[in-house]
Amino acid sequence: MKKIVVYSSLTGNTRKVGEAIAEEIGCKAVNFEDECVNDLSEFDFVAVGFYVDKGGPDAHFKRYMKEKIKNKNVGLFITLGAEPESEHGTKMLEVGREILEQNGNKILREFICQGAIDPKLIEQMREMAAKAGDKALHPITPEREARWAAAASHPDASDIANAKTAFRGI
Ligand SMILES: Cc1cc2nc3c(=O)[nH]c(=O)nc-3n(C[C@H](O)[C@H](O)[C@H](O)COP(=O)(O)O)c2cc1C
Repeated sequence: MKKIVVYSSLTGNTRKVGEAIAEEIGCKAVNFEDECVNDLSEFDFVAVGFYVDKGGPDAHFKRYMKEKIKNKNVGLFITLGAEPESEHGTKMLEVGREILEQNGNKILREFICQGAIDPKLIEQMREMAAKAGDKALHPITPEREARWAAAASHPDASDIANAKTAFRGI
């Protein structure tokens, strides 16, 4: 069975998880922008991973998923800033599943974990909240600060081990 891991990753979290999955199932992990994954016809199994960008895969990767990943056995993996068990985490898995299943893909495995949020993005959110004052869409609450702090150490060794376990046996 020919396998490949394809991912989108801005700051490396999803790449790390993808590389661990690739190591576990014995194949390459490739960023979707690499030309060599323009044609996936030779692969029987594709592990598809994205980082969450404003409520879903980033627009380029979403297009790639819709155009290139069709009628395959697939695995889905996601990293995001929010807690994986949160409503948002559950929703992100649903979003990923829907895109893949619409194209006739069969999802064999799934994995989701938190990933450190780019400090530049955190800085931007702080600035926006400070400017908007009481009207801030995402006010900087102690809960938000705690979530950012919790995400900062992920993916950690335990996430990597869990990702491997989730894809074991493929
Ligand atoms: C522009 C941008 C938008 C993001 N939007 C969300 C979001 O809507 N929900 C969320 O939980 N995390 C969001 N995040 C956090 C990332 O999904 C998370 O840090 C992820 O692990 C980054 O993965 P990467 O290192 O592979 O790029 C966002 C990050 C960036 C940079």
